[in-house]
Order: sequence, then structure tokens, then C-alpha cells
Amino acid sequence: MSDQTLSNLLKEDRRFEPPADLAAAANVQEEAYARADADPEAFWAEQAERLSWDTPWSQVLDWSDPPFAKWFVDGKINAAYNCVDRHVEEGRGDKVAIHFVGEPEGDTRDLTYSELKDLVSQAANTLADLGVEAGDRVAIYMPMIPEAIVAMLACARIGAPHMVVFGGFSSDALASRIEDCQAKVVITSDGGYRRGAASGLKPAVDEAVAKAAEAGHQVEKVLVVKRTGQDLGPDGWNDDLDVWWHDSVEKASTEHTPEAFDAEHPLFIMYTSGTTGKPKGILHTTGGYLTGAAYTHWAIFDLKPDDVYWCTADIGWITGHSYITYGPLANGVTQVLYEGTPDSPERGRWWKIIEDNKVTIFYTAPTAIRSFMKQGREIPDQRDLSSLRLLGSVGEPINPEAYVWYRHVIGGDRTPVVDTWWQTETGMILISPLPGVTPGKPGSAMIPLPGIAADVVNEEGESVPDGSGGYLVLTQPWPAMLRTIWGDDERFKDTYWSRFPANAERPTPWYFAGDGAKKDDDGDLWILGRVDDVMNVSGHRLSTTEIESALVSHPKVAEAAVVGAKDEDTGQAVVAFVILRDEAIAEADEPGEGEDVVKELRQHVRTQIGPIATPRQIMVVPELPKTRSGKIMRRLLRDVAEHREVGDVTTLADSSVMDLISAGVSSGKED
Ligand code: PRX
Repeated sequence: MSDQTLSNLLKEDRRFEPPADLAAAANVQEEAYARADADPEAFWAEQAERLSWDTPWSQVLDWSDPPFAKWFVDGKINAAYNCVDRHVEEGRGDKVAIHFVGEPEGDTRDLTYSELKDLVSQAANTLADLGVEAGDRVAIYMPMIPEAIVAMLACARIGAPHMVVFGGFSSDALASRIEDCQAKVVITSDGGYRRGAASGLKPAVDEAVAKAAEAGHQVEKVLVVKRTGQDLGPDGWNDDLDVWWHDSVEKASTEHTPEAFDAEHPLFIMYTSGTTGKPKGILHTTGGYLTGAAYTHWAIFDLKPDDVYWCTADIGWITGHSYITYGPLANGVTQVLYEGTPDSPERGRWWKIIEDNKVTIFYTAPTAIRSFMKQGREIPDQRDLSSLRLLGSVGEPINPEAYVWYRHVIGGDRTPVVDTWWQTETGMILISPLPGVTPGKPGSAMIPLPGIAADVVNEEGESVPDGSGGYLVLTQPWPAMLRTIWGDDERFKDTYWSRFPANAERPTPWYFAGDGAKKDDDGDLWILGRVDDVMNVSGHRLSTTEIESALVSHPKVAEAAVVGAKDEDTGQAVVAFVILRDEAIAEADEPGEGEDVVKELRQHVRTQIGPIATPRQIMVVPELPKTRSGKIMRRLLRDVAEHREVGDVTTLADSSVMDLISAGVSSGKED
């Protein structure tokens, strides 16, 4: 983020107090902060009590071997039991758990907690029949249909950690994740509805399974939901491997006794981009994670029994895990689940869903809000949005204008907006206003939640004074924290815990989030975005290195450098600079061929990673700016990508390189 944006942000002085009626009846009141501060472990133990435990814990937190934390030591619990059975046993079986809205208009389906319990039990029985045992990994690659949630809960029920891959990722991305965690079974569907058409998923699974097999890992079974009924092609079904969901799950017994697992039993792995080419498998465990997800969902969204909640995230991201599946269902909420895109069949689809289902709590991402702002308020104004009482934002810094528009146009100025900061690694929201206590400032995530210790520090780890910026750190463990990177404890220690290790003043290491932040004059926090080589495009995390590796894996590319450039719609956008191999340069110089290379490279990135990683721009350049030690100076490339005057070039090995690049860019050699 530029200094200009930063100082503009900090001039923002609008402030919205919590509405009086919401404040008076809020689930969490101001006293929670001091109480949690005085004894964080007692505070988290109290929150864990909202769940149903099979065996109580003997110790709240074991932090004797940092950074490996254990929460609720010796406790035993089943996550799926807590998300479904418990509500049925307590008399809420007829309550709607999921209002499913398919993308085709009129395609809706309601599932009560009893129905959900039956389906989860059936799927658990089927997985067991397919040979899945506690500890085995199961990959899930599905559209946003109820079966996706059922699949996750069925895995949790039998103690098989799930690994959900976003349906927009390519078969290569799916294959590498399946292989890394050695998934035994894959759950998928023939396809799903996107933008008015059936879009296939099974073919990508087939490719991924074949690729994993080539690399030496054989997936044993593929369980397939029939969603679209699309033709799978002549080689689209393998009787040895593939099993239809309707032939298995829907015929299985609805009786299944959940087994209680250790609080530290792995619940799921979720891959996320880091600063290297290899995604990290973030491991979350059961008791602490569920406690953190359930408490924060209840506290931050001020959940009441009659609320209708809707989070627009995909289950392929952590937001879908913590704030669609685990938090909301552990709290027995009624929620909307929507399969499709916001503009299908018309641009007002989301607002129609809110009107139809009388949604009261709505949780989405700034990038979506900005795109609606662009379309104009006439579209949401056609619908009755008066049921809304609370709005949330997640995934990237929300710019003040988008925040104010969201509150005003969507929330009718009645609704607080909670800007929630967290990460795949944190598992739960850590910094956010509490809607009945904390005022909202457009653009600020405000303060750490009760029981959370965060700070902004300088290079030396000293807390910065109000009005200054630095690195965001977490100075105490929290229940939903990641436990490690799957199969790579060293990388776990190195990535998150080595920046601010234990020392004389700091008895245990601090968690380094990789984000920059600023404290304003009141001490409230403004998250400024990543300080490492990670980009945030439409709230999705992408690694510059991962896209660079994808580009250089193309035979025509000699070298590549990728930067995240500021983008009005998507927050940041991928901009790539590539040096072609000599043969490709000769070809590209033919009239019209240069554009083809760029097209080919964009397509290559799509197939290697997925459409979300497609560069907005690819610039073919003769050289890349490097320091004398050979490190690419991305800062200078970002200047070019953001059309700024190029900054200080004195550390460049060859300072004329930037002239060459800038000349190429202005002569139109860009996409
Ligand atoms: O840079 C921060 C940004 O998203 C990163 C985490 O990305 P991911 O693990 O994909 O999880 C996204 C959903 C939780 C963070 O390091 N980020 C997330 N929420 C916010 C945010 N930046 C500013 N404000 C937020 N509310």
C-alpha cells in the first residue's frame, strides 16, 4: 500500500457507534475484554463449555513446547456430533440448518438439522465402507451444494481429516495437494452450475488422480455426487474407482455412532499459498478449533436463535470452513448456502436471495462490495433488504468508501459492519469489532477480540506507539491456531515463529502474521496488507513465487517475475514480467505473434493453478531488475505495474535495466 493511501486512510475519522438496541441485548458486553485479559485460559475454558465434550480436558493449554500448542489436553470430542446430533437431541431437529439456493432459478432445498444428521451419518457409513479410517485423508472438490458440507462433517465424524480444494483450482493444483497429503478418497460431483451453465468437476478429478498415480500415489476411491447430470464422456467413469453418491450414501443406514476423538486429533488440512512455490498444508485440530470458530461466530455476529445467516465464501477457503461449516453449525444456526455467481441470471441475484430468505446477518468480501458499488445502488434498491441487522467483511483491507457504501446502501444505515481480520492459519477471527460494544471506523478492524493478544511491533519486536505502523504479531497462543504445516514442522517454525523468537523479554516466540498494520491515535488497528511475497487478489491468497514457477515451467519462458499491483476492483492484481527464451523471441517478433505468446502464457497459468491466478497483465521484457546478489527487485516492478515513477535504483546491478523495461512498456509491449 502506498504512503499516499496510508495517509488518506488515517485521515478517515468517520465513526459509527453500536445501535442502542443491539448493544443492550448483545451476546458479548464490554466486561468480556477485562475478564479475558485477567485469565485468558479460564476465558477459553468457558467458551469450550459451549460445546458438548465426551471426556473433559485435564489442562486448558499446554504451551510447554512452543510453537507446538495443545489445547484442552486429554479432552475428547466429536466435531460432527457437535454440529448436528446435539441440536437434534436438544429438540431442534426441525429447525432449518441450510436453505440451499441452487444457481438455476427455483432450484431450492431446505435441510433441517434432523435431515442433516441422517445424511452425515449415511455418508460416514459409506466412507467407512470405502475403507476410510480415522487418520486417513479425504480430498473434497465440490461445488457449493449441501453435500459439500455433509462430506466435510462425515469425515469429521469418523476422524478422517478432510482437505477441501476450491472448485476453481486446476487439476494440477488438485493433484499436487492430493499427493502432498496422500488422500485415500476424493469426494466430488459431476459438476455444478456456474454463470448459467453446468461446469464440470469430475474430469479434473480424473486428471488429478491420474497425475497423482504417475507420481506414485494411488487414490483408492472417488465418491461422486450427481448434481448436473452432465455427460461424463466415454472415459468419464471407472467402475474400479468411481462410486455414485446416490448408489451408496443415499442407500446407507442413517444410524451411525460418532466416536469421540482427542481434542488434538487432526480435523482438516487446508492448503494456502506461502512465499515459495509449494503451497502449505495448514493443519487444524479438533477441540480448540471448534471452540474458536463457534465462539467467534456467536460473539462477532451476535447470533440469536432466529437469525438467518449467510456467508458468501466458498467452502474451498478457510472462511467456508470456519464460518459456513463449523462455527455456524456448532451454534445451530439457520443459514443460506448459494451455489452460483452473484450475477446469475441477473446482477441482483444476491439481493433477491436476501429478500427471499429474510437474511439477517450477511458476511462477504470487499472485492464483491466494490463490484456492486460499481454497478450502482439501483440494483440492490430493487429489493427489500430490511431484514439485515448486521454486516461483515473479510479477506482483505476494506477501503473506507466501500465500507460506507455497504453500511448505507445494503445496511440502510441500521447495521453495524464488522471488519474481521484473520487467516487460514489462525482458524478463527482474531481482530474485529464486537457489534454491541466496539464502534466501527471505516477501514479499521479495530481491536483484538477478548482472549486474544495482538500487537504491532517494529523490526526489533518493540511495540510501536499509537500513530505508527509495523508488523502484526500475536503474542499469546489461541485455541484455533494452526498446529503445524502438514509434514513440515521445520517450515512451520521457520515461517511463523522465527521472526520474533523467544528471548530475555519474550518467554515464548510470537506468531508473525506476515501483515503490516498501523495503530491509530486511539490505538485501533488498521491492517495494511502483506509484507511478504504474498498477494491478495479478490480476497484470495496467491504467492508471487508460485505463479513465477508456473510461468517458467512454460517452454517459451526463460525467467519471470510477478508482482501484486493495486487494482480498483480486486484489491491487487497479478502482473507478470517475463523474459522469453531466444527461440520464442524470434517467433514473437513475427507480426501478431507477440500477443499470442501472452495469451498462451495466461492460459498456461490458468491450467497450472486456476483462473484466479491469471495475470491481469503480462509484459514481455528484455531484462529483470536484480540486485548484485541476484535478487529480483519487485519493488521497482511494482512501480512500473502501478504506473508510478520508478523509485530508487541504486542497488540494481545494472541501472539501465529499468529504462529498458519502461521503454518496452510505453511502446505498448503489454497485454
Ligand atoms: O493479509 C490479510 C488478509 O488476508 C490474509 C489471509 O488470507 P487467507 O489465509 O486466505 O484468509 C482469508 C480469510 C480469512 C491476511 O494475512 N486479510 C484477511 N482479512 C482481512 C485481511 N486484511 C485486512 N482486513 C481484513 N479484515
